[in-house]
Amino acid sequence: MLRSCSWPFRGVKIVIPSVPMEVWLMLRFYFGILTLGTVVMAADVSAPAVTFNKDVLPVLQKNCQTCHRPGEIGPMALLTYEGTRPWAKAIKAAVLSKKMPPWFADPQYGHFSNDRSLSQAEVNTLTAWADAGAPEGDPKDVLRRCAGWKAGIFPSRT
Ligand code: HEC
Repeated sequence: MLRSCSWPFRGVKIVIPSVPMEVWLMLRFYFGILTLGTVVMAADVSAPAVTFNKDVLPVLQKNCQTCHRPGEIGPMALLTYEGTRPWAKAIKAAVLSKKMPPWFADPQYGHFSNDRSLSQAEVNTLTAWADAGAPEGDPKDVLRRCAGWKAGIFPSRT
């Protein structure tokens, strides 16, 4: 059997040219860069950017929308991406300076008497979002979370 099938390249000599050391080093260099690039890209994928739909909206829902929605004392609504985006820089400044969320000693706000200050992680999220240029992200992230929502605040425009 073996004898009857002939190797098509029989007789062809494979010539390996002798390559000067510099060429090998260059090849290694370029290959190294390619590999490095792949690693950097992989790192990018594993640390996705902060987006409104995935990261920011939950923080707003928990800490800000009680006031920042129509009919409440907050001057603008922070319910939707469109409504929040223009405020990204102001939000960053307000949470870094701890101006927001405010704490009122006034008994009128007695039902907010619990500590409403943000966690460091929440401050980081809002800051990183503003620094990243306030990206919206995937709308599906909102729907995914909706399924698990307990709080009564939904991002409606009414
Ligand atoms: C208890 C109600 C209340 C909560 C909770 C609240 N805000 Fe405010 N916010 C206000 C009021 C009232 C103003 C307008 C008065 C002012 O600027 O001091 C305001 C103003 C702002 C401004 C404009 C600030 C400026 O310098 O002009 C930003 C930005 C803001 N809030 C962001 C937030 C964010 C982000 C949260 C949640 C982390 C939040 N707020 C939570 C009531 C609230």
